[in-house]
Amino acid sequence: MAEVSLDMQEESWFLVANWKMNKTIRQAEEFVERIMPQINTLKYPLWIGAPFTALHSLQEMKKKYTFILGAQNMNDASEGAFTGEIAAPMLRDVGAQFVILGHSERRLSFHETDEYIARKVARAVMSQLVPILCVGETLEEKKENQTLNVLKKQLEAVFEKACPQGLKKMLIAYEPVWAIGTGLSASNEDIEKALSHIGTLSSQYNVESKVLYGGSVGQKNAESLASIAHLNGFLVGTAALEADSFAKIALISENRHFQS
Ligand code: PGA
Repeated sequence: MAEVSLDMQEESWFLVANWKMNKTIRQAEEFVERIMPQINTLKYPLWIGAPFTALHSLQEMKKKYTFILGAQNMNDASEGAFTGEIAAPMLRDVGAQFVILGHSERRLSFHETDEYIARKVARAVMSQLVPILCVGETLEEKKENQTLNVLKKQLEAVFEKACPQGLKKMLIAYEPVWAIGTGLSASNEDIEKALSHIGTLSSQYNVESKVLYGGSVGQKNAESLASIAHLNGFLVGTAALEADSFAKIALISENRHFQS
């Protein structure tokens, strides 16, 4: 299984689909068949965060199409008595190259703590899976002007645990919780502030991070969001469920990003 080198993507744009708990195997295959002819001029590969059950089949489709394949969660242990869980070597075995960790839906609905997420990131690093760490504030925290403190707490927990395990490069998705699936996206100015804070924290730990934005990215706001300086991509939920809409975001954001 080829590892993803973030070096190869230095000048690139990371467009990641987070399908969440959607798509059967057949639906996942249909998505790939439909989107690939529409994006064959793209300068960068799409990243697809698929449900576990579709990974094997999508891995097979990589014989025909180019894309980066990943999962949306995993356990922090490498194996053992954890009924219902999935481990990093299993994900590697089924073709995953990256894993989304610390998504706010997991933090809030499954009570994942910063420390637990940090252990998962460390495990991903040890297992040669590229971690995409999601961070972001709730509406309440935003109203209390706590955004930058929240990001610091979420990131420091991960850096402290995962840097000793070899974390040097990672993708970080800034996803304000109140913007996810709501149709409300953060303002470009707020995103710029978050990006610069994440950049400073990362460099304090000697981590080279590429930062994506997530939260109601769609065809309407992709162009404006993609013009944000130093932004490296999008993590897209709702608008990545449908191939035609995700293809449009890919083309719009590529034009904007590589032009500016
Ligand atoms: P959304 O989801 O694009 O539907 O807001 C983004 C995410 O949860 O990663």
